[in-house]
Amino acid sequence: MAATAVSPRHVETSSTHINSSVSYILIEMRKQFVLLGLIIVLLFGFHTLSNRADGDSDNSPKVVTTTAVKPFNKSQYSLTDPSSIWVVVNKQRPLDPKPYIPGDLQTPKVALRQPADYSSMKLRKEAANALEKLFKAAEDNKTPLRLSSGYRSYNYQVSLYAGYVQKEGQVSADAESARPGFSEHQTGLAVDVGMTNATCDVEQCFGDTPAGKWVAAESYKYGFIIRYPQGLTQVTGYEYEPWHIRYVGVDLATQMHDSGVQTMEQFFNLGDAPDY
Ligand code: DAL
Ligand code: ZN
Repeated sequence: MAATAVSPRHVETSSTHINSSVSYILIEMRKQFVLLGLIIVLLFGFHTLSNRADGDSDNSPKVVTTTAVKPFNKSQYSLTDPSSIWVVVNKQRPLDPKPYIPGDLQTPKVALRQPADYSSMKLRKEAANALEKLFKAAEDNKTPLRLSSGYRSYNYQVSLYAGYVQKEGQVSADAESARPGFSEHQTGLAVDVGMTNATCDVEQCFGDTPAGKWVAAESYKYGFIIRYPQGLTQVTGYEYEPWHIRYVGVDLATQMHDSGVQTMEQFFNLGDAPDY
């Protein structure tokens, strides 16, 4: 059997042919890849562009998050009607009528300095309810409070003021006590508060106690303000009284707290106290 002779040239030719076939396939594959890449790039670009175009041409309202600040309405309540929770009673704004008596006085269910049926332990209903919440929070804070003095009638203020004048003279009396018909205690919206153990009761040192500090910082949340703040005697006409809080409602108390305006006189532009 004659052996088939395979010439080296033939081998070379065959190998060259295989090599060029592989190269051809590789080139074709690369072309396919490039084409595929181009298609992907084109599709992605088109998608992005169409999204942008959609956004540009979209006339539907966009969701814009803004915090709408509702302007505070300073005319919500009367400043002169003695039954208004915003009534401003000071040295130039007496109660009108002077012998006014609130119609809804009641004794709040809190610790009291005097027997519950004394009129000085009563407050207007709304203020009494708010005081109960304030005192509950004070108790939770481990700084329990008691009601020292609430409502005062016109006649009671007559004797109280006269007592101050007799003891200290009129100038000193006018810095601490309102004249009859000029005390906001008569509205049933003002309260003198103190510690249950009577430390610094109706004294300026109450402001330095943990209870006094808590009252100054927290009472606005329950609708009360410190009516005669420290350093504002010129505005209010009275010495600093950290124990005397006045119910004005949560809205006004919060507005005053947040704006840093401490007195009703300043908040409502009513002018400073007269010189007496
Ligand atoms: N101590 C306050 C000013 C009053 O007598 O009403
Ligand atoms: Zn008072």
